[in-house]
Amino acid sequence: MQFLFRTASTHLFQRSFYSTMFDTQVLKVVPENFTFKKSIGTDEFSELNANSVISTKNDKLAIEKAVEWLKKGEAVGIPTETVYGLAANALDANAVSKIFAAKNRPQDNPLIVHVSSINMLKSILPDNTIPEVYLPIIRKHWPGPLTIVLPTSQLIPNSVTCGHPTVAVRFPSHPVARSLIEACGFPLAAPSANSSGKPSPTLASHVYHDLQGRIPFILDGGSCNVGVESTVLDGLRNPPAILRPGGLTYEELKEIKGMEQLQVYRKDFVDKELEMAPTTPGMKYRHYSPEAMVILIDRKRDSKEFEENFEKAWKEELNAIRTSGMVVSKIGMLRTTQEGKTATWETISMVDDQTKCISLQMGRYGHPEEVARGMFKGLRELDGRSVNVIFVEGIPEDREGMAVMNRLRKAATKVLEV
Ligand code: TXA
Ligand code: MG
Repeated sequence: MQFLFRTASTHLFQRSFYSTMFDTQVLKVVPENFTFKKSIGTDEFSELNANSVISTKNDKLAIEKAVEWLKKGEAVGIPTETVYGLAANALDANAVSKIFAAKNRPQDNPLIVHVSSINMLKSILPDNTIPEVYLPIIRKHWPGPLTIVLPTSQLIPNSVTCGHPTVAVRFPSHPVARSLIEACGFPLAAPSANSSGKPSPTLASHVYHDLQGRIPFILDGGSCNVGVESTVLDGLRNPPAILRPGGLTYEELKEIKGMEQLQVYRKDFVDKELEMAPTTPGMKYRHYSPEAMVILIDRKRDSKEFEENFEKAWKEELNAIRTSGMVVSKIGMLRTTQEGKTATWETISMVDDQTKCISLQMGRYGHPEEVARGMFKGLRELDGRSVNVIFVEGIPEDREGMAVMNRLRKAATKVLEV
């Protein structure tokens, strides 16, 4: 179990190194107080070029504070509909470097650029032109949990694209993110606001936990509705491909004109170049991993006795872990709520006189969008309770289940099929 010690000690070192840089301030905002007003005219994208209206003084002040830090070239935590982002001015290489430092992100992992309007998108593209292939997708799915790969331009620093000829861009639907970008007047580069390698944050408190002291400011807009990161689509490829499954499902994307042949990276094809360059999220680096060891217990396609098999599998695995010499005083379970059963957030029991079990539910089985919302939150919650091992239940890989399973496979040190 050497990796457990390695992870823990590196983490401690980085934490103490950065801990005194800032006294991190957290300000609450209420997403419902942000609306968007279309301008009158014949603009083809009038909805997507609408202007933000903030109805309360407190929310305006919070946005102003965030803008102030961003204009100074600092990185701040912001809510989006997928996960919290760690944002900085995407056009300022020095500001972008603060993101990499605060997260301890590998220097060769490119960032997503967030825009708040189609006009802003065009302003960063070569010849201000959106490639034809993306137009029907943008019309249907922006703003939202979809990132598209575009040709980059001189305006985007190399540190954002990590020297690649493309730039990944997203138009978030979260009213606070959208309003903030508009108020800045420049696009924001933003990876997920977790410490690199950890589960993504879906609450401001998760961002605070990972980055307190390393960033000056966090906007707290409550919990993220989608709960997993955006889908990364490369429409410049032929056929087009999902590089990272996310909040927008394969099923929804495939229905769009031009996406009939849509492929999913690693499912339908593998590309040597992509494997080496970490433009395909999570390929090169460890991802989404809590401190605890994660064992994913997935269901075989035709598994009828899953409940029984699940129990047998975790008990056997727990025994094997104990036999290896690891002391396990607490285990965590991350489960779905089965059809016909009542949802309970938490159940505590004893496995035997040595080991306590904390069981949490991510969402209802057959409702992958609920599981997506609860997955990262559950991993973080169990880590907070200092469990040694987390047994997590797999779900079918359809709809949001594809993104959920992609993350869980990467978080897991072992995958069992029962
Ligand atoms: O939902 C999201 O996408 C969140 C929120 C904050 O917007 N952001 C996010 O960023 O998940 P991050 O850095 O954790 O993941 C972005 C991934 C990178 O790992 C990278 O592999 C991929 O997007 N990416 C960035 N630029 C790319 C490019 N030019 N081509 C292909 N993939 C790219
Ligand atoms: Mg991330």
